[in-house]
This record gives sequence, structure tokens and C-alpha cells, in this order.
Amino acid sequence: MTTLFQAYELNKTLTLQNKIIMAPLTRCFAGEGFVATDEMAAYYAKRAGAGLIITEATVVAPSGHGYPNTSGIYTEEQIAGWKKVTDAVHAEGGTIFMQLWHVGRISHSIYLDGDQPVAPSALAHEGRIPRTDDLQYPVPRALEIEEIYALESAYIQGAKNAIEAGFDGVEIHGANGYLIDQFLRGSTNERTDGFGGSMTNRTRFALDIVKGICAEVCSDRVGIRLSPGAYVHLEHTSGDEETFSYLLKELEQFNLAYVHTGIFDDSTKFDYLDGGSTEFLRKNYSGTVIASGGYDAAKATAAIDSGAADVVAIGRAFIANPDLVERIKNGVELVDYSEEMLGSLV
Ligand code: FNR
Repeated sequence: MTTLFQAYELNKTLTLQNKIIMAPLTRCFAGEGFVATDEMAAYYAKRAGAGLIITEATVVAPSGHGYPNTSGIYTEEQIAGWKKVTDAVHAEGGTIFMQLWHVGRISHSIYLDGDQPVAPSALAHEGRIPRTDDLQYPVPRALEIEEIYALESAYIQGAKNAIEAGFDGVEIHGANGYLIDQFLRGSTNERTDGFGGSMTNRTRFALDIVKGICAEVCSDRVGIRLSPGAYVHLEHTSGDEETFSYLLKELEQFNLAYVHTGIFDDSTKFDYLDGGSTEFLRKNYSGTVIASGGYDAAKATAAIDSGAADVVAIGRAFIANPDLVERIKNGVELVDYSEEMLGSLV
């Protein structure tokens, strides 16, 4: 276990106090105006023992919401709310990144003041919307090109706002079938303009955002989460894997803080990746890789010791155990996670 408790130099700007990262976890407890609350500040401060906290996915534009009470980072009030969170975490000695989010088609007019969700193409995700009485995901409206540029700007502004709110950095949420992932994949992107078709075009949205954010925020403070293995909210299409290798190769030039796997169970193997998701990131990217998805302390140690990952993010166990790092360190038994825990923020 000693491996997990060694500090990790992410880069010249940031050193993590240990190698146990708190994975981003949407909790749906934002207040009026999608503002982070005092309760959220207390929740994150209790978890400041993590090497890095990555916040719940936080929406960069009003069209980006797809769940109830998810926090935003596009108004002054939202910046002020998050400032209380970063102050509380820093007071406990923690390091915290904000995860920047737009859900794209994984939404419904009930979350968008009656508006239709937007996406690269007018292709619906087949499925029932969680937390609703059997509502299905609707067909989204394909974004106009000017709207795509406006959303790129929203991510960049979101990153600037996060830094203003005191965050140590940002993680671009490119995983889990949300907007950026929808641009990357054949099953969700049938555009014939500069944002669809070729690998260069499908990765344009992601890379414009990375480039734009790095121009505004030191790249040492910028990470990205990707799901090379399609496992939720969209299907894999043959050739997507080449788009991901191309994207990872292009990301090298930015010297990002890290690339982070988005997957629920990292032992899942994908034929088209010739292995697991983190394995694929490791093979195609030379910088820091954060593994996640079903890791406990023993598996995390093994992954780091074998060189499969540099650090490991843990999600559900952090919901059940605010003091997860201390418990692992002291060999204290962990509380098991259960879905009922999502009903309150403790
Ligand atoms: C998640 N996950 C997630 N991922 C993400 O990138 N942004 C998010 O906001 C969320 N929200 C979220 C909420 C809840 C309740 C769960 C359970 C999961 C995925 C999460 O970061 C992580 O990848 C998975 O939970 C797998 O890791 P564990 O839980 O097995 O350690």
C-alpha cells in the first residue's frame, strides 16, 4: 500500500499528496440557480485527504444540463458558490479540479426550460431517462456551426471561471457518451461539415476546447477524461478506436496534467481496443494516466506498481467513506457503498 501514499508530481506546478484520486461524482444537490451550496463545501472538505478531488461534472452552458440540480459554472453566483467549496477544501490541505460538462443529447426539455437538447447530429439515445416517470430521451437538434463555436467558448469560459473560483485546475469531461464523446463517434456524429466525417473533423471539437483552455489556463492545470471503450449512452462504431488513438497523439503536444479513464469497470475488455480502456490510454499516450473503474486499494496498488497507471481514481467508495484515504492508510474497514447513499450528501 505504500505506493498509494507516496506523493505524485503531476508536473512542476502541482504535486499530489498521494495517489488516491476522488473520481468525479454527480450528486444533484446544487441549490437555486445551479449554485454550489455550503453543504457541498462541507462534503468536499471532508474528502480533502484525496491526492486530488475531481468535482462532480459541472455544466458550462444552460443547454448542458441533463439531470436535476446539477451545478453550473456560467454565472457570477455559481463562481461565488464554488469559491466557498475551494476555500473549504484548501483549508483542509486538499487539491481540487473542476470537471467541465455538457451532456449534449443526454437530456430532455424538462431540464432545458422547454428547449430541445442539442447534439452533433439529430440522433436520439434510445433509453429511459433516470429519475423520471418513463420519459425517453428525445431526438436532439443538430447544432448549427456557430453554436458549436459558442459551446467551445463556453467550455473555455467555464475553465476561466473555475480558476477564478479558486480551483487548482479543470478536467474536461470528454467521457461517458456526453457532448464531446458524441462528436468523437460515428454512431452519434453524422455531420458533413468541419466537425464530422474524418478523424481530424470528429476530434476538432475536443481539440479546439483543449487548445482554447490551455491558452487561457496553464496546461499543468488541465486534464481530460475519455472513454475509448464505449460503455454508456452511445454505441461503438468501427473506426472510433482510430479516432481515439489520433486524439491521444494530438493531445501529447499540450503537456496536459493527465488523461483519465471514464469507465465503470476497468477490467472490461473491448475487442476493438485489444484490451481495457486504461490499457488503451497507456498504449497511446505518454503522459500521466489516471485509471478508474472498480479499483480498491489492492487493485490500485497493483495497477501503479505494474506501470498500468500512474495514479488511480476511486468513486463510489468515496461516497460511502469521506475519510477513505485515512481508512486505507490505517487498515480500517470500509463502509460498503449502496445506492441509497445517493439520497443525501454527507
Ligand atoms: C459517477 N461517475 C461520473 N463520472 C464522471 O466523469 N462525471 C460524473 O459526474 C460522474 N458522476 C457519477 C455519479 C455517481 C453516483 C456514480 C456512481 C458514478 C463515474 C465515476 O467517476 C467512476 O468512474 C465510477 O463510479 C467507477 O469508479 P468506482 O466507483 O468503481 O471507483
